[in-house]
Amino acid sequence: MDVTKVQLDEKDIPRQWYNLAADLPHAPLPPLGPDGQPVKPEMLAPVFPMNIIEQEMSTQRWIDIPDEVLKMLYLWRPSPLYRARRLEEYLGTPARIYFKHEGVSPAGSHKPNTAIPQAWYNKQFGIKRLTTETGAGQWGSALAFACALIGLECKVYMVRISFEQKPFRRLMMETWGAKCTPSPSTETAAGRQILKEQPDTPGSLGIAISEAIEAAVSDATGSTRYSLGSVLNHVLLHQTIIGLEAKKQLAKIGEKKVDVVIGCVGGGSNFAGISFPFIADKINGAKIDIIPVEPESCPTLTRGPFSYDHGDVAKMTPLMAMHSLGHRFVPPPIHAGGLRYHGMAPLVSHAVEEGLCTPRAVHQLRCYESAVLFARTEGFIPAPETSHAIACAIDEAKKAKEEGKEKVILFNWSGHGLMDLVGYDKYFQGKLSDYSLPDADLAAGLDAIKHHPKAKIR
Ligand SMILES: Cc1ncc(COP(=O)(O)O)c(C=O)c1O
Repeated sequence: MDVTKVQLDEKDIPRQWYNLAADLPHAPLPPLGPDGQPVKPEMLAPVFPMNIIEQEMSTQRWIDIPDEVLKMLYLWRPSPLYRARRLEEYLGTPARIYFKHEGVSPAGSHKPNTAIPQAWYNKQFGIKRLTTETGAGQWGSALAFACALIGLECKVYMVRISFEQKPFRRLMMETWGAKCTPSPSTETAAGRQILKEQPDTPGSLGIAISEAIEAAVSDATGSTRYSLGSVLNHVLLHQTIIGLEAKKQLAKIGEKKVDVVIGCVGGGSNFAGISFPFIADKINGAKIDIIPVEPESCPTLTRGPFSYDHGDVAKMTPLMAMHSLGHRFVPPPIHAGGLRYHGMAPLVSHAVEEGLCTPRAVHQLRCYESAVLFARTEGFIPAPETSHAIACAIDEAKKAKEEGKEKVILFNWSGHGLMDLVGYDKYFQGKLSDYSLPDADLAAGLDAIKHHPKAKIR
C-alpha cells in the first residue's frame, strides 16, 4: 500500500461495462412518452441509433466493450489511481485517500469514456453527424475529439455563460473540427423562443439540450443523431470502466475494503462511473458510504423531489423518473458549469431512493478552498466540478481523524481545471460568493412539474 500511483497494464483493462439496472433491488421506472405510456424503442429512433437504444434499455448485467472501442480508449486508459499522500499528511488523517485520475484523457475529463463508444456506435449505424450540448465545455470537447477520431461531423450548442467564460474550450472543439454555437441561439425554434422570453439568459443545459435534439431530428436526410454526455443509462454504463479499473487497482496494492466512495454530480455520469461497481457490492451486503456531491446552488438530489420530468426545457425528451428542480429551472451562473443541470440520472436518482447512496451539497467557496488545497498538496489543478468531490473527501478524512479510524476513501478526480482558471482568478480576487437556492425559486421551478406523474419505486 506504500505507493503513490497504481497503473494497470493495457491487457488488464476491463472488457465489459457493468449495468446497475440488472441488480437494483426494485426495477427502474421506465421513461414515459407523451401518451403517458412507457417509451418504445422505435420512439427514440429519430434521436439515437438503435444499437445505443438497445443499450439504454438493457438490463443485462455485463455488456462487452467492442475491441475497436478499447483500442481508442487505450490512448489514455487504464487511467492511474493515485494515493493523495501529501493531502493526507496535511490533514493529519489516518484515512488513506485515493483518487482516480480521469483528467489524463485528451479532452481532460471522464467524458471521452462515453464519447468514444457513442461516436463509434453511431458510425456503425451509418450516421454521419452528431449534435450535442455542453455546459462547461468538457463534454463538447470530448465529443469533438471522439468524432475527429471516428470520422463524424460534430455540432455543439454551448451554454452561453460558459461560451463567454471559456473561449479555450471552444477552441479545443474547433481544433478537433467541431462547430460550436452559444446557446440559446437563433438557429433553432427552441432557442428563438427562449431568447424572446429571456433575452439576457445565461443559458442552461436544459435549453442547450432542446436545441441539440431539435437540430438532430430536423435533419431531413436522416443522417444526424443526438448524443448526450450524461444522465442516460448507456452513458452511465460506459463510465463504469472507471470504478471497475479502480477495483482492480485497489486489489493490486492489497486494499481489501473501501469505506467511502465519492463523486461530484451534474447529470450523474462520473459519479455512476466510480460508484456503480461499488453499489453492486453494497447491494450484496458490503458496508460502504457512497456519496454523490452537488452544488448548494443547484441542489437536485438534496432538495429536488423524485418525480417524472423532462430532461430539457422544450420538453423534447420523454418524461424520466428522476430527482429534478423542474425542467424550466435555470441554475445561477456558478463556475462549475457542468453541475448546472435541473435533473439527475434516473439510475442515480433510483439508487438514492433505494438508500444505496446519500447525497450532499457543498457551497462554492468551500469547493474552491478545497481545490486550492489539493493543488498545493497534490499538484494537479482540478476542474471546479471535481472540487465538489474533493471538498467531501476532505470532510470524510477529517471525520476519520476525529473517529481515529483508518478508513479507505476513494473519489473520482473527474477532470483537470486548466481551462477553468478564470474561475480560480475570480476566487483569488474575492469575486465569488456562496449561493443557497431560495425556497421561493425552488418552489417556482417545481411548479412546472406539479402535474407530472409521481415517481415511486416502493
Ligand atoms: C470535469 C467534470 N466533472 C463532472 C461533471 C459533471 O457531469 P457528470 O455528473 O455527468 O459527471 C462535468 C460536466 O461537464 C465535468 O466537466
